Amino acid sequence: MKVSIVGSGYVGIVTGIGFAELGHEVSFIEVDKDKVNRINSLQPPIFEKGLEKLMKKNEGRFRATTEYRVLEESEVIFICVGTPSKNDGSIDLNFIKEAAKEVGKFLEDQIVVVKSTVLPDTTENILKPILEKESGRVAFEEFGLAYNPEFLREGSAVYDFFNPDRIVIGTNDLMSKNILEELYSQFDCPKLFTNIKTAEMIKYASNAFLATKISFANEIGNICKILGIDSYEVFRGVGLDHRINPSFFRAGIGFGGSCFPKDLKALIKKAEELGINPKILKAVMNVNERQPMKLIELLKKHIPELNGKKIGVLGLSFKPDTDDVRDSRAIPIVEEILKEGGKVIAYDPKAVDNFRRIFPQITYADKAEDVLESDAVLILTEWDEFEKLNYKGKLVIDGRRVEKAKEAAVYEGVCW
Ligand code: UGA
Repeated sequence: MKVSIVGSGYVGIVTGIGFAELGHEVSFIEVDKDKVNRINSLQPPIFEKGLEKLMKKNEGRFRATTEYRVLEESEVIFICVGTPSKNDGSIDLNFIKEAAKEVGKFLEDQIVVVKSTVLPDTTENILKPILEKESGRVAFEEFGLAYNPEFLREGSAVYDFFNPDRIVIGTNDLMSKNILEELYSQFDCPKLFTNIKTAEMIKYASNAFLATKISFANEIGNICKILGIDSYEVFRGVGLDHRINPSFFRAGIGFGGSCFPKDLKALIKKAEELGINPKILKAVMNVNERQPMKLIELLKKHIPELNGKKIGVLGLSFKPDTDDVRDSRAIPIVEEILKEGGKVIAYDPKAVDNFRRIFPQITYADKAEDVLESDAVLILTEWDEFEKLNYKGKLVIDGRRVEKAKEAAVYEGVCW
């Protein structure tokens, strides 16, 4: 099938290259010329495990361009542009509206599939009118329109593309349903067909539930810490109940990234607009904002006065295997240390360049070992290589549970 992908962030690029691997002919439409050049020279526009290899393997099956005109040759058009937060937490639809406008100009009878995370009713009430106006055609009759959420995790997005737990397809027209059924026919997982706004809500409810699980683990973990209980052992016991499941109970300094904080804020805002006070969602965010400060409290238990002290930071990305620092828990932690007059020396295998844009004033080490020569070492991301360091004789405050660090002279885990 001829598939176009509008926007080549991690969702767009992984989805597109994934479809290329499955034998489809893929075009990426991307406004950033630099990204276009990178894709055409088989270089991933972002760091994502396994992606470069897959791009090289599928050379010739995909191309990137800044020209929306290629959509004329497509059968299916995926919109994968970002939907970031505005300052008030509500969702910023400018990129996706702009994309819909451009897509509309080249619409005939293709299927437009929205993959970007958008609140219920956005596809039908906001994007559909734009597509119809620009194309002069009627959605669900003259062109197809669908919502197909992504459940890819950064860092394992390639694996997740090929091994989904489920595929959710929201359609209101048979043409879209049939084409998407065919496009996803090689996947052997449950496929759920719903209407468009239900599919939009499934995406938010999934992320909100996962974030809730993490904040719940952190809340229990904070209680465990005071009682001298290892919350990881507690959640091993809890997770064995098949109704609960053991995933996403890793307590520590909370969740970051481009999805959970943004999606929760957007859902909270939407609920409030609807006259609902979303108490659980707000509590999930509150716990998450407090959690990095738990690590600072533990640090100050050992070094009450941070002024002039050298604090080593291991890990800057919001999670391992990515260079993404969006809403990374390292941001409020480094901010607080600097505010209290501490000096920060930090190391991350991939995220230094991105972090440097936010904090140009701190020192960045070329290797993890250099960070260990500090008054205290903070572990903020559980990169594999941190399991191989020699922590003997050090003061370590661990926000992510790196087992090897327990050999430190003084070791404190945030929730254990
Ligand atoms: C998340 C979801 O897991 C994906 O299913 C979804 O598609 C994606 O958002 C999205 O909406 O695009 P992602 O943000 O890439 O994926 O990363 P996660 O692995 O979910 O981790 C998010 C944050 O939660 C990280 O900071 C991680 O360290 C933290 N986390 C995760 C915990 O603190 N504890 C856990 O048990 C799990």
